[in-house]
Amino acid sequence: MPSFSSALLRWYSENGRSLPWRNTRDPYRIWISEIILQQTRVAQGYEYYLRFIDRFPTVEKLAEAPQDEVMRLWEGLGYYSRARNLHAAARQVVLQGRFPQDYAGVKALKGVGDYTAAAICSFAYGLPTAVVDGNVYRVLARYFGIETPIDTTEGKKLFAHLAQELLSVRQPAVYNQAIMDFGALQCTPRNPNCNTCPLSESCAALAEKKIELLPVKSKKTAVSHRYLIYILILRHNANEEALYLRKRPTGDIWAGLYEPLLIEFPHQPEDAEIIARLEQLSLLGQSSVLKPIVRNIKHQLTHRLLHCSAFTLHAPQHPPTDFIAVPLSELSRYAFPKLVNIIFDTMDLSAAKEVRLSDSHRGESALSLQ
Ligand code: ADE
Repeated sequence: MPSFSSALLRWYSENGRSLPWRNTRDPYRIWISEIILQQTRVAQGYEYYLRFIDRFPTVEKLAEAPQDEVMRLWEGLGYYSRARNLHAAARQVVLQGRFPQDYAGVKALKGVGDYTAAAICSFAYGLPTAVVDGNVYRVLARYFGIETPIDTTEGKKLFAHLAQELLSVRQPAVYNQAIMDFGALQCTPRNPNCNTCPLSESCAALAEKKIELLPVKSKKTAVSHRYLIYILILRHNANEEALYLRKRPTGDIWAGLYEPLLIEFPHQPEDAEIIARLEQLSLLGQSSVLKPIVRNIKHQLTHRLLHCSAFTLHAPQHPPTDFIAVPLSELSRYAFPKLVNIIFDTMDLSAAKEVRLSDSHRGESALSLQ
């Protein structure tokens, strides 16, 4: 075994974390943990994993659950296609009769790529498949001083090959956990702990003062701007207020989550443009009242910067078509994008996830529609 690998295993035996998905060889549980942990730090993913497994302890339970409930448990984790794929793949597994037992079968599951297939196969079945995730790229690029960009075909091949060569064939599961923990705890993206690192004497990046420069990426991710205006259309009945919601369709961000009426513009709109758009939608009548809740808050996603404003609209001319009226006391049954929850919180709809719209907001200056 290369000295790099034996040093890593020694480090892990002393520093590795005890995590719930490490005490099982159940491929279902390992799969859930790996999907949650993609793009999510352990500290955040931990509670989600426990709740998810508590509610769906088996693949059958997940397969038979309604999609809304799966999305609700995922709410706040982001990258919602992961939850939709997980749900679809659970149904795939149930149709197949059992969880796939080899790399090709695991990789054929919806939403499972090379990384997740390698993780599941090594952790659940002890197969010698090396994982390559962001941690692995960073650790290998630094230790071996590799400047080939990790987002090129050449780079991906090179790192996959090297990771596979370094893998301990006798202990693939432990080795894979070790290199991920080493990246997460010791060889961190910023301010790595080189002073206490057992690999520091032979680390190329440290010797060449390139720690901050590695790994290399060739492209900067382009950020697009989107201008979103949420209109919270409210209906007041005898003793209960309801909000009109729709489920976002597939094909865009947040598919499967719920939201109030959303209108989008190619630029930051003036109020007059918002009102004109609502008129086009025949939503404004004589007694309609539109009130601002938040103006131009910014919400950063991986490849997008969202500029968002939100208004309440009382007494629309017509209810919007294809929306459902959800009593405020029932909002907690639905999963919303984080941005929508921020708006709810601002106007106290978080409490309104339980109670009625707070009266304090009714005093805010209304936009004049006449
Ligand atoms: N990140 C992704 N997979 C992980 C795992 N199995 N343990 C800790 N962090 C991880």
